[in-house]
Amino acid sequence: MIQVVHTAKALQKLLEPIRFRRESIGFVPTMGALHEGHVALLRESVKENSCTVLSIFVNPTQFGPKEDLTKYPRTLDQDIALAEKCGVDIVFAPSGEEIYPPGFSTFIEPGDVAKPLCGAFRPGHYRGVCTVVARLFGMVRPHRAYFGQKDIQQCLVLLQMVKDLVLDVELKICETVREKDGLAMSSRNRYLSAYDREIAKEIYQALVLVEKAFQEGERNVDMLKKIAFAHLSSFSKIEIQYLEILSYPYLSLLNRLDGPAVLAVAVHIGGTRLIDNIILTFKV
Ligand code: PAJ
Repeated sequence: MIQVVHTAKALQKLLEPIRFRRESIGFVPTMGALHEGHVALLRESVKENSCTVLSIFVNPTQFGPKEDLTKYPRTLDQDIALAEKCGVDIVFAPSGEEIYPPGFSTFIEPGDVAKPLCGAFRPGHYRGVCTVVARLFGMVRPHRAYFGQKDIQQCLVLLQMVKDLVLDVELKICETVREKDGLAMSSRNRYLSAYDREIAKEIYQALVLVEKAFQEGERNVDMLKKIAFAHLSSFSKIEIQYLEILSYPYLSLLNRLDGPAVLAVAVHIGGTRLIDNIILTFKV
């Protein structure tokens, strides 16, 4: 039977016997509105650990003042039912006060890897992500924590945080789960109108075109970026926020590809912001 708790104290009580038995705890932090992307992380954790904790918390500190915090979808009952089907043991759904009690005053400021891509357009976003994830890690004390490649910069920022703060947790990065037409699954896809949803598949198509050119030998970053720009620009409803090819995993600027790189894109379609990425690696 899945257990649902709302406080760190109740969570600790459930986890105590598991820790006592030296069994492993897997952790999947989310903001809820679960979809198949989240499910993949949950299944991986269930497979690899004796106990899986899912957290559901729409974290206000990672949203900018003009972002969709209040309209972010909240579907707790459905999420619990889906989590149960995946074999999750504990759902931790804390209140805002539980995570940010009066007097809370320590924030984690990530470094260079948080600066480009989303970091440049969402000031303070990764500061909010690092702070909440560190606090959740403190509450759950997991052995392993699962994140999606869909948010590749988030993964890299958190890997650096875990390294810099010597946090005793292993981060696992799981592949992006996509719809049949390639659109990366996201809680925000539900905001798209039918027409915009149809257009949204072109984001991944643009990435695939670049991947193809890269595999055929193109190494010039500007040329590769042009391919994706040209494709996306042919759809008037797609507004590109950024489209970058940066080194992987440090996210530094490149002129030519001579090692692994990440091709990352953020667009707006009808007011909805969508991101996606692929990693370009040399096949041996
Ligand atoms: P959220 O957007 O709910 O995502 C929770 C986790 O699911 C993240 O690790 C994200 O990368 C992963 N995920 C989302 N869509 C995915 C997809 N299509 N395929 C694979 N994984 C996917 O990311 C957050 O929440 C928050 O920033 C959080 C880490 C919980 C901190 O508040």
